[in-house]
Amino acid sequence: MDFIGSLGLQQREGVPSCPQEGLPCPSNSSELVQECLQQFKVTGAQLRQIQISLLDSMEQALKGQASPASAVRMLPTYVGSTPHGTEQGDFVVLELGATGASLRVLWVTLMGIEGHKMEPRSQEFVIPQEVMLGPGQQLFDFAARCLSEFLDALPVGNQGLQLGFSFSFPCHQTGLDKSTLISWTKGFRCSGVEGQDVVQLLRDAIQRQGTYSIDVVAVVNDTVGTMMGCEPGVGPCEVGLVVDTGTNACYMEEARHVAVLDEDRGRVCISVEWGSFSDDGALGPVLTIFDRTLDHESLNLGAQRFEKMIGGLYLGELVRLVLAHLAQCGVLFGGYTSPALLRQGGILLEHVAEIEDPSAGAARVHAILQDLGLNPSASDAEFVQHVCAAVCTRAAQLCAAALAAVLSRLQHSREQQTLQIAVATGGRVFERHPRFLSILQETVMLLAPECDVSFIPSVDGGGQGVAMVTAVAARLAAHRCLLEETLAPFRLTREQLAAVQAQMREAMAKGLQGEASSLRMLPTYVRDTPDGSERGDFLALDLGGTNFRVLLVHVATGGVQITSQIYSIPECVAQGSGQQLFDHIVDCIVDFQEKQGLSGQSLPLGFTFSFPCTQLGLDQGILLNWTKGFNASDCEGQDVVCLLREAIRRRQAVELNVVAIVNDTVGTMMSCGYEDPHCEVGLIVGTGTNACYMEELRNVASVAGDSGHMCINMEWGAFGDDGSLSMLSTRFDASVDQASINPGKQRFEKMISGMYLGEIVRHTLLHLTSLGVLFRGQQTQRLQTRDIFKTKFLSEIESDSLALRQVRAILEDLGLSLTSDDALMVLEVCQAVSQRAAQLCGAGVAAVVEKIRENRGLEELTVSVGVDGTLYKLHPHFSSLVAATVRELAPRCVVTFLQSEDGSGKGAALVTAVACRLAQMPCV
Ligand code: BG6
Ligand code: GLC
Ligand code: GLC
Repeated sequence: MDFIGSLGLQQREGVPSCPQEGLPCPSNSSELVQECLQQFKVTGAQLRQIQISLLDSMEQALKGQASPASAVRMLPTYVGSTPHGTEQGDFVVLELGATGASLRVLWVTLMGIEGHKMEPRSQEFVIPQEVMLGPGQQLFDFAARCLSEFLDALPVGNQGLQLGFSFSFPCHQTGLDKSTLISWTKGFRCSGVEGQDVVQLLRDAIQRQGTYSIDVVAVVNDTVGTMMGCEPGVGPCEVGLVVDTGTNACYMEEARHVAVLDEDRGRVCISVEWGSFSDDGALGPVLTIFDRTLDHESLNLGAQRFEKMIGGLYLGELVRLVLAHLAQCGVLFGGYTSPALLRQGGILLEHVAEIEDPSAGAARVHAILQDLGLNPSASDAEFVQHVCAAVCTRAAQLCAAALAAVLSRLQHSREQQTLQIAVATGGRVFERHPRFLSILQETVMLLAPECDVSFIPSVDGGGQGVAMVTAVAARLAAHRCLLEETLAPFRLTREQLAAVQAQMREAMAKGLQGEASSLRMLPTYVRDTPDGSERGDFLALDLGGTNFRVLLVHVATGGVQITSQIYSIPECVAQGSGQQLFDHIVDCIVDFQEKQGLSGQSLPLGFTFSFPCTQLGLDQGILLNWTKGFNASDCEGQDVVCLLREAIRRRQAVELNVVAIVNDTVGTMMSCGYEDPHCEVGLIVGTGTNACYMEELRNVASVAGDSGHMCINMEWGAFGDDGSLSMLSTRFDASVDQASINPGKQRFEKMISGMYLGEIVRHTLLHLTSLGVLFRGQQTQRLQTRDIFKTKFLSEIESDSLALRQVRAILEDLGLSLTSDDALMVLEVCQAVSQRAAQLCGAGVAAVVEKIRENRGLEELTVSVGVDGTLYKLHPHFSSLVAATVRELAPRCVVTFLQSEDGSGKGAALVTAVACRLAQMPCV
């Protein structure tokens, strides 16, 4: 096979090159040869200068500072660790671009056990020149045809094949299977590929070909394949060096040093793309006139200047240019040239390597030159050997300077004085050239004396390494599939949400009519929103949310002033006896009164009691059942106001005048209604969730009267308790419900509110761990602990301003040790769970506002919703998702959401104020 194939040079067949301009043709042949050879000599100082300048270019690029096309590129590769030897499976590897015009397909079997190896099968195909320079689609179609031809000869099925794509050109990778070609290098120049995702182009071509179903799971640079396929020696192999048609290296960098990555732990493999290095200050002094001519005639003029001094595609060409010049000056071959000597690409790396091979002998050198159509004398042959040696020695030395820069970088980033490191080498220059490796080694020792480097030749030209990366990518892709499958039930369609809205409408109607319904639709005896004429001082209690509060509310002409204090309700009290709970409440009131100097005064009291109550009047509320975390005994079925009054009586010292009991939704609506008369809906999304709204009295079967309005406490948390939401319930909802203190109850609330979302996430994470998708499949005691994953973590994790590394910090605080893939997946779980919650809540609000609109026979309704609750207020996206869902499902309602600033205690006081005014009760 023709190794070089298309040379990447402008073909100017038959046009003889002139002797190099600018170079005299002295008559003394030895002098002229010496002069040419001299140009290829690079001093130690020059090499060091190149090393320093390259290191500087690398460090600039890592910092993400604008890099001119002439700098190294430092491209992250999405390979985060060197192989641990447990990767296994069968993989197809397609190699394009490493070795000239050759495309290679391999079948690699990874055994999963270190040291066990199975020889890969492989086949090479020559890419025709017109394909290398033609339309991109033609190149990828060619690759797909080669794949089919290779697979046809193997005993494999045509389904489920996994392919690793070794694509050796500079690419911006955005994932293990996403890679955009920046620019062609070497001899390729296919149109329509630069700026495109090469994985997609290959996938499309395989599909067009249609014979095999092959999944392209990973794309890697040849340097990465070389590094990853390296048999682990003394230490891990963390550098991959390729000198093939072109040249490049990759190495493991600390992720925190890579500005473009949002990552502060671990390492990531960086493809240096040093071929594009061409700092004039450093390279200028070593560039010869032959390098300039070569560049001038190449396909990529001015680009890849460093590569053009080292890569196998160019070594033969440099030799040819020197020999042609010397022949044309009459000092070689008796002044004669041959077509091969004058044709670009006439001398190949193979020729150069053989000429330099000490075992070849003079006769062999003669034979090679004769094959090139030349007729050398003995001294000609000797000169030719010197020219080859000069060109290749320089190449090996320059390559050593670049490698030394990478080693210095490793030393810097790891803060090590000395470095012991293995470098995997690959490429035909290493394989063919007799002295390249030894010159490289010697020079590296001089330039990086503190590094102890062992050079390890790559296995199967990197095919094994590509298979390794593919194995990892395949595992990640499988994990992603499992993640998607797990989260799919959380992702609700518009139709599903519309069905929830419709079901809710139906349940509302039934509840109002007193028919069996999971929505109780409780009348609250609040008939109007505040009108601003309310005045006086009131006490308020606020029980049932995150905090228990006692408040003093001063309602005056200038507005409302609130003084309040938070008291805790220990879990043992919330779940102890009713008497204990109400005694505790009265103790808190007494304490508050003392602190506020109110002892002895009997202020009217409004009681926000955020649990379902049947009300027969404003000051009467029979607790139907506890919800959220409360479960105090002997309260259900009792009038809460009586329970409070009895506790007051037991505490003889105080006198309190309990005027009204209100649900928190009602308190919130009233509180917001004080500012905005359109506020006719109250919504809570906090520990629990619920809504109330102003209904036409005529629709409320249990309250007499046909005109006017009444606020209805929907108790929508219980929506679906009749099984009507079971279609939407996931296995995780079922687990959360089962572990709760009220199984089977508050099913809507358990999908939406703060008390439960963290638990849903926790159960989902446990499941994903058991599938091996998260945390390397390691279950931890911490994650098995109930309520360990707080709902506030969802708000924190989903906050846009937090980088993934901070997400990880939050989770690590929980004792979870996780990779960045884990962090991303946890984020996605949180997003799926909170998005569903917000959308369900939106469907509920849509049902309510549509009901109000229809009640009033309006074409369009303008209404405000007063909202409170920690989840709604703290979560970064919850409120906008609710609003978006309402817009979608209730397009004829213009809904404004008002966040309650003062809590529902203010609303309770306003309800009390209205009641006092109506009863003409004296207010203080
Ligand atoms: C508060 C109200 O602001 O919000 C309470 O004053 C209400 O009445 C609570 O119950 C709801 O939110 P959370 O998150 O505290 O349950
Ligand atoms: C060229 C490519 C690079 C590749 C190297 C060796 O420099 O741009 O990606 O690694 O050749 O094949
Ligand atoms: C629970 C209560 C309800 C309250 C809601 C919000 O669902 O049953 O009354 O409004 O939580 O706090």
